[in-house]
Amino acid sequence: MQVPLLDLKPQYQPLAAEIQAAIERVCASQSFILGPSVRQLETSVASYSQCRHAIGVSSGTDALLLALMALGIGPGDAVITAPFTFFATAGTIARSGARPLFCDIDPQTFNISPRSLADCLGQCERRGDALLHRASGTRVRAIMPVHLYGQVADMAPLMDRARREGLNVIEDAAQAIGAADAQQRRAGSFGDVGCLSFFPTKNLGAFGDAGMCVSNDAALAERMEILRVHGGKPKYYHAFIGGNFRLDELQAAVLNIKLAHLDAWSAGRQRNAAYYDGAFREAVLADALQTPHAAPGVRHIYNQYVIRCRERDALRAHLAAAGVGTEIYYPVPLHLQQCFAYLGHRSGEFPESERAAAETLALPIYPELSQAQLQYVVDSVAAFYRR
Ligand SMILES: Cc1ncc(COP(=O)(O)O)c(C=O)c1O
Repeated sequence: MQVPLLDLKPQYQPLAAEIQAAIERVCASQSFILGPSVRQLETSVASYSQCRHAIGVSSGTDALLLALMALGIGPGDAVITAPFTFFATAGTIARSGARPLFCDIDPQTFNISPRSLADCLGQCERRGDALLHRASGTRVRAIMPVHLYGQVADMAPLMDRARREGLNVIEDAAQAIGAADAQQRRAGSFGDVGCLSFFPTKNLGAFGDAGMCVSNDAALAERMEILRVHGGKPKYYHAFIGGNFRLDELQAAVLNIKLAHLDAWSAGRQRNAAYYDGAFREAVLADALQTPHAAPGVRHIYNQYVIRCRERDALRAHLAAAGVGTEIYYPVPLHLQQCFAYLGHRSGEFPESERAAAETLALPIYPELSQAQLQYVVDSVAAFYRR
């Protein structure tokens, strides 16, 4: 049996006629940039994410960069984030000119650890209005928590601390559209800006690159809207330097159709996660692997189902030979990436991030998987540990 990590074709097939008609409407209109489809998507995603404003952009990466730019973060500043994440999180901080300041993750949720955040802030001191990071002399401006794999970070203590310290919060919600905490507050609605990705592998995926910033701050939203078009307002008059972060009509037209199915798709992922949880428990593999931990009451949307396991690389090779696709998200924590050598980090500095990078493996979780495929994945994993 073949079980790919992700197969988007069964999602597309039942929607093909509707999507092709929407694409044809855009073609007939010959209006390709920031038109009615983008505005419709912005209204719908803002409401879906419990935010008043949304700005459609060219990718999740650009959403992060735009948020940083709109908050005026740049050279001499620092932004706190976790090193166990996709590159764009710290990549955009560095591209803004600011310094990524890393904190370790919680070993259960893989999200930024409130204790590690407190330790990081302990390395800072207040000088007037500014919070200075002692070792680098940079001014800490913001925290960028990541809602990794589709589960919101522990936001209540983080927001409390950020507000007390006068720091902005940019949520990297690229993997987490519709994820919520135990109070049913949705990813993107906690901080100043939430950044979403519609990369095709996400729960809501475009037919190419696309993203969005959501916010409850009207002034900040307006600034992002202006920066999205090179900072020009009115057109060709530039009070700020922005970029081309525009979202295409074609992508928005596809996403408008798909959004109506997002809850059902995320529910399908949750069903598959529950199946795996139960089947791995029955297979009695507790000494070999740990299934993902969803904190009580939270809405985990399982963009990825990531286990922590013994002999990870050998298990991965065994699964590949059995026809099961897997992926490692992410094999090298960002503090150890070559491009960040200038930050001066050493191996061992963020042990939970390093352990996660060495032990985690994402299994197929997309909603259209059959029960036979799910059971085949479990049986293939079990066969490896019983060899
Ligand atoms: C955690 C995280 N941040 C940022 C991004 C960047 O999004 P995009 O690929 O749409 O630029 C991604 C997407 O892969 C992501 O997973």
